[in-house]
Amino acid sequence: MARPRSTNKLILFLAASAAALLAAYLFWSFADDVKALLEHRMGASPSPSADTIVKVVKLFFVGIIGYLFVRALNSLFFGLAYQLKRIDAPTLIRNIFTIVAFTILFLIAFTFLFPGVNLGALFTTSAIFGVILGLALQDTLGNFFAGISLQADRPFQVGDVITVGAQRHTGVVEEISWRAIKIRTFTNHVVLIANSNAAKEPIEVCPRDNLNARLVLFNTLYTDSPAKTIHVVREAVREADNVSDKVAPIVRIKSLGDNGVDYEVKYWLVDYAKYNDTDALIRQRIWYAFRRAGLNFAFPTRTLYVERPERAAQRDGDGGAVVERLSAVDIFAPLSADETSMLAQAAVRHVFAPGETVIRAGDPGSSMFVVHKGRVRVQVSENGRPRTVATLNEGDFFGEMALFTGEPRTANVLALEETEVLEIGHAAMKRVFDTNPDLVESLSFIMAERRQGLASQTDDSAASTHSSAGILSAIKRFFGI
Ligand code: CMP
Repeated sequence: MARPRSTNKLILFLAASAAALLAAYLFWSFADDVKALLEHRMGASPSPSADTIVKVVKLFFVGIIGYLFVRALNSLFFGLAYQLKRIDAPTLIRNIFTIVAFTILFLIAFTFLFPGVNLGALFTTSAIFGVILGLALQDTLGNFFAGISLQADRPFQVGDVITVGAQRHTGVVEEISWRAIKIRTFTNHVVLIANSNAAKEPIEVCPRDNLNARLVLFNTLYTDSPAKTIHVVREAVREADNVSDKVAPIVRIKSLGDNGVDYEVKYWLVDYAKYNDTDALIRQRIWYAFRRAGLNFAFPTRTLYVERPERAAQRDGDGGAVVERLSAVDIFAPLSADETSMLAQAAVRHVFAPGETVIRAGDPGSSMFVVHKGRVRVQVSENGRPRTVATLNEGDFFGEMALFTGEPRTANVLALEETEVLEIGHAAMKRVFDTNPDLVESLSFIMAERRQGLASQTDDSAASTHSSAGILSAIKRFFGI
């Protein structure tokens, strides 16, 4: 059975300590003999003296034992802190502890072995020593202090995803030591970034406990409806794994590109470190959702439209669908097939996005509309607040009031969803009235009813001033019937 790594390390540590202690003990026991031997070999007034050499070797052994002791103290102290208080001290703090404790122990041993040497004077008076040390430790000290400032600022922590430097290394932070930041990239490589370098570079941090967002791009053909695309993709993305349900994904048009309409999906992740997989899953979901909804990705294409006159005429009228729609509108029921088809040819199709205004109150207007696909809301402003007067569905018409009386538009009409309307102008309606004078009467009834709906509840005069008889004569006058 394989032993855990920590047990192996402990065995190694104990063996090294035992070996060091044994070696130190042996040297101490034979120190006088070694000294005598050296004196004998080196003769008179040797420099350095045999005594100094023995002391230096002793200091070396004390150094090794001191180091092992500090390591043991370190593990005991921080291990205990973790066991008792669940405080997991960063590597940098542990390293500082080791260096400080070791330096203190070393200095004590040094003054004990070389009582005659004034350490303070040695360091302060030796300018050359200072310069050499400074130059040699320039990078190390730079990293060390940058590491301390990283620990103090805590701009990121172990487990966060960061992107560093001009080379844009991205990965999960594994360790922040006194020398470097260690990150594991998404290809499982380890990248070490020296603290002093990291301190100079911009670092993009995506904290682990933060709702981080991603953008995924896709496109559609220009013929695919944006409202439908946005709905389909939003639903597909929402259900993907690792997509947070705290914020709903956003799907929006990014640009009108050369090859198609370019969109972006913005979504928030539960676990940001898995963004590559989640991006891929989202692209996959979009593909399937497109397949089901009959939407199409755009790719570099060049579309050549070769249009023959008779085909163009047929397309503009869109034959059956528009005629069928108009003949289902109740006010046009009395029209003959030819008249309806004439009306269909005169009708112009417009598509409105959800929330777009089709008609604005107060504007002049010389056409009416039939809802071909979708729904609209008729709305008036009362005391500065909008009041919904009616919701009109496929086959309903609106905009007739301004068309038939010449007065400004009486209400706002807004598309509630993606809505296609058929616009019929003054000239086409006049032709219809000329051959069907009875139509004016049925229209005037409907308009009178609508006017009552428009009037506020407090307005008692509405019924009398907007009677159908009054409207009838207004229409006749306006159209010269
Ligand atoms: P118009 O005044 O040209 O522009 C706004 C349109 O809203 C109006 O014509 C009618 O077609 C429509 N409208 C106004 N009031 C009502 C109502 N009460 N019910 C349904 N439609 C209405």
